[in-house]
Amino acid sequence: MTQNLKPLKIAGVGYCVPETVVTNDDLTKLYDTSDEWIYSRTGIKERHLVSGNEGAVDLGEKAAKQALEKSKINPENVDLIIAASSAPPKLYPAIACQIQDRLGIPNHVPAFDITAACSGLIYGLSIAKAYISSGMYKTILIVATDNNSRLLDWEDRSTSILFGDGAGAMVVTESDDGVDDIIAIDIKADGTLGNLIELPLSGQNCPLVEPCENHKQYIVMNGKEVYKFVARVLPQYVEDLISNADMKAEDIDYLIPHQANLRIIHAVQERLGYSDDKVVTNIKYYGNTSAASIPIALAEGVEKGNVKLGSTAILCGFGAGMTWGGAIVRLREGIC
Ligand code: UT7
Repeated sequence: MTQNLKPLKIAGVGYCVPETVVTNDDLTKLYDTSDEWIYSRTGIKERHLVSGNEGAVDLGEKAAKQALEKSKINPENVDLIIAASSAPPKLYPAIACQIQDRLGIPNHVPAFDITAACSGLIYGLSIAKAYISSGMYKTILIVATDNNSRLLDWEDRSTSILFGDGAGAMVVTESDDGVDDIIAIDIKADGTLGNLIELPLSGQNCPLVEPCENHKQYIVMNGKEVYKFVARVLPQYVEDLISNADMKAEDIDYLIPHQANLRIIHAVQERLGYSDDKVVTNIKYYGNTSAASIPIALAEGVEKGNVKLGSTAILCGFGAGMTWGGAIVRLREGIC
């Protein structure tokens, strides 16, 4: 029996980064490092960090508002909210529920968070795709937001140099013209590599029983191993995603990758044979904003004129889990 799958439209995209900027030179006040070391190994010059009480929900709210405005969809018409965050500031209520409250999205609409670290946007989009295809929901708000800076050990120079804070959002709807903006989408995970990037939540046992180990509640990363794994897996993965969609690299206009390390981005770029103008990079100014990095790169790329709409793009990301994923998407005029 063939199912009548409904096509998905990417209707709007938005982003938000905090105002406060911390440069590589600023970091030399914290530990022995240099702009030259950080920039040559990662491509990062500066990052935007939350300050005061500002957090992932505030950033996500602003990005979501922008995406809704661009999509010309009222909050009352959203019928599902998915928030992706590497580490939500509160495990509950979910970021998605807090954004529902702040935006005035009707109070019966389902809302939940997913944890797929830096692959969060792609995971969220794949869930939205399944819901829209089946006809279960028609208008879905996906918010990807992270305030990594609050979860870092600011004495650990090998990890804290990498991350920044930010949010990106996407509104997807059932397409009314029959065209599906998701040409291909795929997600993967390998839990055997879970120890490469961890953020333990500690807590303690009941005082009447044997105490548990206490872990520092910081991001702990084996950067070298993450780098080796991703540099080995991602270029081939992206190439396979394209060929499984019966396409060729030259059929796609842009590569919009997770911004974790410029050298990893270059490895994917090289495999696809893309010139610099086809590859969206903003890691220099934002660092690694985890789940938010792909939608920020997309929305900011359009804003700066580096991404022309009426085009196609391949999005790809990887992160703790290890998780990874990719999507080939159509970028319609007017989405941001
Ligand atoms: O979405 C999250 C995904 N995560 C990633 O994508 C991370 C991928 N990994 C990386 O980007 C790189 O592994 C890093 C940039 C994190 C580190 O680069 P590396 O070339 O792998 O450096 P390393 O950790 O092997 O350290 C090399 C040296 C060490 O000194 P010794 O032992 O050789 O004397 C470190 O102590 O560099 C030293 N080092 C630093 N020196 C100056 C480490 N961090 C710094 C620093 N400044 N910030």
